[in-house]
Amino acid sequence: MSGQAERSVPRHQPALPDEVLHFLEPSQGQTIVDATVGAGSHARLIAERLGPLGRLIGLDRDLSMLHLAQPRLVDLPVTLVQANFEQLPLVLEERGIHAVDGVLADLGVCSDQIDYAERGFSFQQDGPLDMRLDPTHGEPASALVKRLSERTLADLFWNYGEERYSRRIAGKIVETRRRTPLETTGQLAELVRSCVPRPRGQRHPIDPATRVFQALRIAVNDELGALESFLAALPRCLKPGGKAVIISFHSLEDRRVKQAFRDRAIWKVLTPKPVQAGDEELRNNPRARSAKLRAACLLETRRDQ
Ligand SMILES: C[S@@+](CC[C@H](N)C(=O)[O-])C[C@H]1O[C@@H](n2cnc3c(N)ncnc32)[C@H](O)[C@@H]1O
Repeated sequence: MSGQAERSVPRHQPALPDEVLHFLEPSQGQTIVDATVGAGSHARLIAERLGPLGRLIGLDRDLSMLHLAQPRLVDLPVTLVQANFEQLPLVLEERGIHAVDGVLADLGVCSDQIDYAERGFSFQQDGPLDMRLDPTHGEPASALVKRLSERTLADLFWNYGEERYSRRIAGKIVETRRRTPLETTGQLAELVRSCVPRPRGQRHPIDPATRVFQALRIAVNDELGALESFLAALPRCLKPGGKAVIISFHSLEDRRVKQAFRDRAIWKVLTPKPVQAGDEELRNNPRARSAKLRAACLLETRRDQ
């Protein structure tokens, strides 16, 4: 087991826990999917409400997160599965489950993943430039940084990170990699910082590496492709009247969720505007500041029945 998994007390604090319970309304005997178990905090809150006849199916792409969550969920009716949530229909079919009462997805990564430098998500600590949620599949970020053309890198930083200095950063990467391979998070973070001008006489409000790291993480894990497939599959996985609750952390995700719930032949939207954390939650959990929750209920008379 990795060092990350050996850490027994997760650091991650769940975003919008009361709102998740309010919209998902888990109750005795239900079957609910937590598509992103992470450190298991939301999963525990939900599973505690399902009783002995209910079941929570918990997915995560990252096996070390399932190891971290598992001890917190031992006494509860929970089945943990390592899977990409885009495979939810298959996960349910393999377990003989036709449809479930609710699905939660809390997108992105956990503090426990970011804080573990070896995973390569952090621009604050030095580690290998990896960023894969499932380190046994796909290319690490270092391979993308080595292989992609200057133009493609610039487009990636612009499209997935809305990075104003995308061209300058891509140019610097290509120039640097001719001399030295970019293999660590520290190298890339320093390179990005050197390309972004500091506001006159001020400190940067956020680390200039933030947007480039976000963009690379999205690309490495095809996060938007997975989200789109998951959203398209959701109506097939829910019972009529079942609830979907999705928490996003940036506009690229939130836009897709909003768009998916817009189909009035399938969904009744429960959150006309995205729900955000209040002051009290933000005092204890600053990461929740960018969380946006949208919820919808599958219509009883949906078109594809
Ligand atoms: C923000 S954390 C979830 C935290 C969790 N709700 C809790 O209470 O601890 C997001 C989790 O989703 C997982 N994840 C991200 N994309 C995924 C995907 N496509 N399929 C399955 N899990 C995914 C990440 O590995 C991470 O553990």
